[in-house]
Amino acid sequence: MSADLLPSAPFAALNLQRYPVKHAKDLQAWDAADAYLASFIRKDATFVLLNDSFGALHAMAIQCGAAAVFHINDSWCSRHAIEQNTRADWIDYVDQSVTCAMVKLPKSLSMLEAQLLQLASGVTTPVEVYFSGMQKHVSNGHLALIKQYCDDVEYLPTQRKARMYRANLRPNQQRMLPYCQSVPELGLTLQNVAGVFAEQKMDIGSRFFIEHFSQLPSAKTVADVGCGNGLLSLAYHQRHPDAALYLYDESKVAVESAQLSFAANYPQAAVEILHRDGLVDVAQQFDLILINPPFHQQNTITTDIASSMFTQAKRCMHAESELWVVANRHLDYQADLKKQFRRVHVVAQNAKFVVLKVMR
Ligand SMILES: C[S@@+](CC[C@H](N)C(=O)[O-])C[C@H]1O[C@@H](n2cnc3c(N)ncnc32)[C@H](O)[C@@H]1O
Repeated sequence: MSADLLPSAPFAALNLQRYPVKHAKDLQAWDAADAYLASFIRKDATFVLLNDSFGALHAMAIQCGAAAVFHINDSWCSRHAIEQNTRADWIDYVDQSVTCAMVKLPKSLSMLEAQLLQLASGVTTPVEVYFSGMQKHVSNGHLALIKQYCDDVEYLPTQRKARMYRANLRPNQQRMLPYCQSVPELGLTLQNVAGVFAEQKMDIGSRFFIEHFSQLPSAKTVADVGCGNGLLSLAYHQRHPDAALYLYDESKVAVESAQLSFAANYPQAAVEILHRDGLVDVAQQFDLILINPPFHQQNTITTDIASSMFTQAKRCMHAESELWVVANRHLDYQADLKKQFRRVHVVAQNAKFVVLKVMR
């Protein structure tokens, strides 16, 4: 089917759900960029899908009779949605031979670069790649990277505000190394894998939170939910080296960064770092839970993930446990926390952030 004939209707028949469902509300599990990419799926072809958000592309590939589908994807939540929506086996791309790649452009340019290099290292001849994203999320930087690693770059007409580029990705054996970020005030060197939160510069919310770490209780067990590169846990470990630390993030590059950062700074620390959706299915209780909550899922701004993290945290707290949250003041997490918890205490605030101590 040609791209200009493609309606988004085929997705409606697939009954796709976003994950987490609670956040979906009236949001659908595909966009015009998915619809545009799907118009290039061909029967019997072998695809690698980069950043398929909720399985729209994978489901359409199955429907069109694709021979095989592989994935390059950072997100645990996307993987879960894709498995739920397609009921197909998930296969990571590990140098399999493919006819074509389809890329939903990620927000992070360095993540795109690392993903292109991962794909390029697995091919021995140029591979055809379609790149798409909604125009408000596609920058000149995306195009510059495509031009850097691909030949024959073509601009296809924008459709329903979705950009589309087609190009041939050259084989390439380069790999991106983690960015070593020194944090002199803490005596740490973070190992930031491409695409991790605050990859090039420490988040100012995390910095403000850490300034108040002297007030944190001495806990035996600590959960760091949405751990990113592990900065909060590393800073806690400095003050309380005997605490057992449990770190969770739905981003694979976050988990890798936290693992590398602990190995580089405190290889002996008692730490478990897990790739998952917050504390879903975690049965353990913690004395202390630390959260610097995310406020977007892919390109959608939302406070729903933070709210779910608070609900999950409550389930993992005993009567004396403390939940500490650093929050952007304008997002008013405090109101949400007050609905869910009996005691919400402001520990510190400045013009932008508030640090909250919460108990059941
Ligand atoms: C604001 S960053 C905080 C990172 C780190 N704790 C810090 O303070 O620098 C939020 C983190 O939450 C992660 N995240 C987003 N959704 C998540 C989810 N459903 N489960 C676990 N982590 C999630 C993001 O990948 C990101 O690393």
